[in-house]
This record gives sequence, structure tokens and C-alpha cells, in this order.
Amino acid sequence: MIIIKTPSEIEKIRVASIYAMEMLLYLKDNIKAGIRTIELEMLCEQKIKSDKKIKAAFKGYNGYPFCLCVSVNDEVVHGMPGNRILKEGDIVSLDFGARYDGFYGDAALTEAVGSISDETKRLLKITEESLYKGIEQTREGNRLNDISNAIQTHAESAGFSVVREFVGHGIGASLHEEPQVPNYGEKGRGIRLKRGMVFAIEPMINMGRSEVMIKENGWTAVTKDGSLSAHFEHTVAITDKGPEILSKI
Ligand code: MF3
Ligand code: CO
Repeated sequence: MIIIKTPSEIEKIRVASIYAMEMLLYLKDNIKAGIRTIELEMLCEQKIKSDKKIKAAFKGYNGYPFCLCVSVNDEVVHGMPGNRILKEGDIVSLDFGARYDGFYGDAALTEAVGSISDETKRLLKITEESLYKGIEQTREGNRLNDISNAIQTHAESAGFSVVREFVGHGIGASLHEEPQVPNYGEKGRGIRLKRGMVFAIEPMINMGRSEVMIKENGWTAVTKDGSLSAHFEHTVAITDKGPEILSKI
């Protein structure tokens, strides 16, 4: 069942979503060569402790032990903070969810450590653009897979590939609600979109092939071919005026 949100519920999701994006921007400013990924988790925990009304959404979710996901280079999603030291030329995807007054917001971005190659810059740019192509389609009257197709078309026409195993999702009083929002699909298919629906849209795009596998820690997805992967995510509401990015700052 897809839960339609009231305007006041959407405002709560907005508070959580803006918080999530603010957290990512704060952590992004702390990314530099030499820092350990666990230090980003520690900064995240410290910040969240100082904000009494906000809770971390991921910690404890299906047993996930951290507030933050930090996925480096070929790690696609659910990278676990640890002793890995970031080095110049790496790319780092940060994913953070927040809960405010019973409602969730979810956001992610990928950032470069120092200077990266032109082809890697292009991967980041195309992945973020594909998120915005999907958001443009997130409007009343469209079909769910119009979002998916817009993302896929943009990523694949740039020569990159779309991860199939992980998808976007409805979000509200739960972190993951129906429907699933795939980043690939046929235009004109899927449920009809209505105002009051809220989705976390999150393309994961690989430089090489689309296949992924899960690491020994049981969480972290990596590309099978070892190629780089990027991830951008916004929480988006469908309003009578079209898509509204709730995690936009
Ligand atoms: N943004 C991701 C998602 O929606 C991150 C979830 S991490 C988890 O699936 F730990 F909560 F699973
Ligand atoms: Co998500």
C-alpha cells in the first residue's frame, strides 16, 4: 500500500530531510586525504547528539551498526565506516537518514577526495544529473517508471550502467515504504503518481558493468568488476505544483 501524506506530515519529512542534507554537507566539508571513514561517523554522531529532536535513521535498522554509510570507490552502497584512510583521487558516497517527530528523510551524495580524473568527474556529474532527470518526472499523472526510465536513459546514454539490486523507495513514517523506485524501467509503466506521495530517489551508477556483490561484512555492496560507483539521493514530495525536493538546501 502506498501511503499518501498530509501537508503537515510532509513538513515533518522536510525537517528530517533538510537535516539529513545539512549533515551530508557538513561531513563533505570534512572529507580530505588522510581522514579515516570512522572519523566521519564520529563527527556525525557528535552532531546528532547536539540536536535533541533528531534521531539517526540507519543505526539499528536491520542491525546496521552505524549512523552513516560511507562507500568508497567501487563500493556502491552500505559502506561501513572503519579504519580505511581516504586518499587523493578516491570518491566517497555519504548516505544519511534522519528521523524527526516520527518521520524520516533520506539523502546521499558522492564527493571527490582532492583531484580526480575527468572520467570520474563525469561519473559524478551524470549520476547527479540522472537524479534530477528522475525528479523532473516525479509528478502527478506520470507513471512510476517514468522516473526510472529518465534516470536509466541519462546514465546509459553517457556510457555508464545502472545498479539493479538497490532501488529508491517510498518514505514517511517508515524509512522504507512502498513503492520501490527502480533506477531502470520502461516509460509508461508502474503505478500512477499522485500528490501526497513521497519518494527517496537514489540512482546508483557504475562506470563499468552494472553487477554488484555483497562483501563479507554482509552489508557493503561493491561492483563485481571493481569499477567506480556513484550515488546521489533526494527525498521528493509530489505536490499540486509538481515535484518538491524536501532535502534541498
Ligand atoms: N539510503 C539507503 C536506503 O534507503 C541506506 C539505508 S542504510 C540502512 O536503503 F542501514 F538503513 F539499511
Ligand atoms: Co534511501
